[in-house]
Amino acid sequence: MKKSQNSAGNEYRSRMLGIDALVKLKNGRRVPAINLDNAATTPAFSDVAEEVRQKLMYYGSIGRGKGQKSEISTVVYTEGRSAVKKFVGADNKKYTVLYCNNTTDGMNKLASALITSPRDLVLSTRMEHHANDLPWRERCRTVYADVDGDGRLRIADMERLLQKYDRKIKYVTVAAASNVTGYVNDVRTVAGLAHRYGAKIIVDGAQIVAHRAFSMLGEKGRDEDIDFFVFSAHKMYSPYGGGAIVGLKQELDAHLPAFYGGGMVEAVTDGDVDYADAPDLYEAGSPNYPGVVGMLKAIQLLSEAGFDYIREHEQTLLRRAIDKLRNEVPSAILYGDCDNIEDRVGILTFNLKTVENEDLADRLAAYSAIAVRHAKFCAHTYVDRLLGEVVPSEADRLDAACVSHKGMVRISFGIYNTEEDVDALIAALQGILAQPDAFAAVEVTSRVAARRNKYPGDRG
Ligand SMILES: Cc1ncc(COP(=O)(O)O)c(C=O)c1O
Repeated sequence: MKKSQNSAGNEYRSRMLGIDALVKLKNGRRVPAINLDNAATTPAFSDVAEEVRQKLMYYGSIGRGKGQKSEISTVVYTEGRSAVKKFVGADNKKYTVLYCNNTTDGMNKLASALITSPRDLVLSTRMEHHANDLPWRERCRTVYADVDGDGRLRIADMERLLQKYDRKIKYVTVAAASNVTGYVNDVRTVAGLAHRYGAKIIVDGAQIVAHRAFSMLGEKGRDEDIDFFVFSAHKMYSPYGGGAIVGLKQELDAHLPAFYGGGMVEAVTDGDVDYADAPDLYEAGSPNYPGVVGMLKAIQLLSEAGFDYIREHEQTLLRRAIDKLRNEVPSAILYGDCDNIEDRVGILTFNLKTVENEDLADRLAAYSAIAVRHAKFCAHTYVDRLLGEVVPSEADRLDAACVSHKGMVRISFGIYNTEEDVDALIAALQGILAQPDAFAAVEVTSRVAARRNKYPGDRG
């Protein structure tokens, strides 16, 4: 699709790797894809790929060898921790950075370290991605704060639970921004509450790092500091499987990791082990150097772009998408508060009354090369609430009669998306609605039906 020169986002289009690579439509035509699925994963900055290529020329084992290349890459790797801390406003001494593969990996590592008994109590929320629910749920007792009618987190419910369990909650874990509605949570207020009741706060940063400036430092004082922050690099324009846990060093030093092996010890004898402190304690085995290099470059590029610009750009696209879906796509149902959008990153979920969500996502890709996400976005408890599918008395049941198999379609913007991308989506939706028969994709519909018969839920 041809883009106008003055459209915001174009500046960054040319800096994305593969943005004009052609994909095949159902009719065999090859066109550039339009990616409206940035909340799942973003394309890479070309400069990130180039940085990885450059750094691989001087690549050697990390923290283990004496060769020049080994020493060069060890410096890049270890000094990178300070760059990560600076990016999220974490004090260099108080916090440490554990490199990980992604947010899921980071949350599991954190949960396996911090949870020391199945009787430990964690307060989470009903708007979390499974990555910030199941790692806790599977290891200890969990309680959940609920959302309001618009899907915003009810912070008062968090306070109610903190009061009710009277200093027994060890950790409060919450998303900085939702991957379903894009709501940005007031994690500082949550931090203040958690600390007041003797808990530590963990923040899932997967959907914030590429979209809003984030600081672990409290604005009104130390009580509002964030204790642990986790994010993925593949959602911030680096594709190399990097990620980070930024956390309180003292606390991490006092716990033990999930993985054991080389690089995490001071000494091992026949009968004993002297473990190193964090971060080495949590990074057994040879590390993911390209992942770290890519993430560090992405951090630099995002910081240069500036989060004021990114925020404003995403708000423009979000406003345009909302207005056009409301006014030009008559059967669209939008989720979340679409009037007051200042506290939303560029994520929008919707349905068309007459086209099932998977079918719609398939058609957008097959006929317009528009990539979106569909179903429940690994946030089943939240999507069910937004859809009005949760019956409180049946909320715990997993049988077919109680698991909703409804879902939604999600669009999510990146720094390089343009207003033309939004307009292309609207035109594609209008085309699907105007000529449903022309798009009847029998194999898609039957695949949906077959899966439904097998498991009337959704794994996504
Ligand atoms: C809010 C949130 N948390 C966690 C994750 C998991 O991230 P990853 O798949 O990179 O582990 C995602 C992924 O979409 C997410 O949106």
